[in-house]
Amino acid sequence: MMDTSISRRKLLMGAASATALTALPHAASAEDGDPRPHAETSDQKRRLAWWHQAKFGMFIHFGLYSAHARHEWAMEDEAIPVAEYEKFADFYKPKPGCAREWARLAKSTGMKYMVLTTKHHEGFCNWDTKLTNYNSVHLGPQRDIVREYVDAARAEGLRVGFYYSLMDWHHPDGARCQTDAAARRRFVDYTHGLIRELLTNYGTIDILWYDVAWPLDAAGWESERMNKMVFELQPNIIVNNRNKLPGDFSTPEQKIVAEEGGRAWESCMTLNGSWGYQRADDSWKSAKTVVRNLIDCARDGGNYLLNIGPMADGSVPIESVRVLNEVGAWMRTNGDTIYRSDLCQPRRSNYASFTRTGNTLYMHVHYWPGSDVSIGGLQAKALSAKLLKTGAPVTFTQDAYRLHLTGLPEHAPDSPVTTIAIECDKVPTQDNIFVRKNRPRRGVGV
Ligand code: GLC
Repeated sequence: MMDTSISRRKLLMGAASATALTALPHAASAEDGDPRPHAETSDQKRRLAWWHQAKFGMFIHFGLYSAHARHEWAMEDEAIPVAEYEKFADFYKPKPGCAREWARLAKSTGMKYMVLTTKHHEGFCNWDTKLTNYNSVHLGPQRDIVREYVDAARAEGLRVGFYYSLMDWHHPDGARCQTDAAARRRFVDYTHGLIRELLTNYGTIDILWYDVAWPLDAAGWESERMNKMVFELQPNIIVNNRNKLPGDFSTPEQKIVAEEGGRAWESCMTLNGSWGYQRADDSWKSAKTVVRNLIDCARDGGNYLLNIGPMADGSVPIESVRVLNEVGAWMRTNGDTIYRSDLCQPRRSNYASFTRTGNTLYMHVHYWPGSDVSIGGLQAKALSAKLLKTGAPVTFTQDAYRLHLTGLPEHAPDSPVTTIAIECDKVPTQDNIFVRKNRPRRGVGV
């Protein structure tokens, strides 16, 4: 039986020297035997349960900026006049079925949910809203993209998330609401109205992902009332922290930093340097980088939301497809080491990273050094080891300082990362300072 109820205290006490341990990213609740963060209320635990298991999601940035192909911030960064920007709608022509392609790609990559930009900062609504004509039924595709997306996600068995930008560069009150009370009233009513439509007309929605709250604060947006409406309409939904309230989870962007105090978190990241399609951006992450990021998120109890920026016709850039296919192939063998991971304390190696399920430590070797690998300072006895890709057992020796795995193939058996499952006699922790202090030395002249 796997022990999944490990607490921070138990983990610390399991190691020889508490001072040597890297601080754990957050505590797990021990007393109730629940591995999920103790900072969550029981209602949050209920609503977040699927999401903690999901671990991996697809972010989709799709809007008029996809047609402009120069980054989703171009309207502001290049100071494009509104009337000129609106014309991009003529070139925003997603082919029928593209949402299904995104969903299939997400599923085959091992992702369990998707989050689509229903409205980004540009203000264009990807659905059949009654509150503005600046939408995808009236202009551009002349179709309800949100509807197609929701149907596609459900058809592939994926959870459905809506990204929604509070900041709006198109609406006449989008900036003046900061200083003009009547404008604020109108704009807040418009915003709440759009969110109400999204959460009323498309069935069960699993995630509401707010973004950029400029130029108002929580009081200005009436964010308490906003969230109250959201939960009335969708009692099982989870919301993020970008409407100036804490919400259910935090959103470190382009970095992997675990939240303090047991809060749920999700690291969102681009595959190159842009969220929206940018034709000339060739700074693609490798599949190895993506897999390593996913491992690091899972190790520290977080989720990984990885972005695609489809082109104006809805197709996904070929470089993204290539990387995601490689990640998907890895996930088919190694997915359980991510989905079923508990908080994992070991992290030190210069060629591997780690995840853990119960007493099993997964050593994910990303730079394969050849016939042997080692872990320094492992504070648990290894009982068995095997290569996850082939199931082949791995021989090893262990003393107080080193677990030495030997007889390995010269070339990495898996790609882009090879995982070795090491079953231990207790929850594995690592203490490298113990090694530094205590490993026998040789005296001068001896
Ligand atoms: C930022 C950017 C935005 C992107 C988002 C994703 O807030 O303004 O373009 O959608 O991050 O997290």
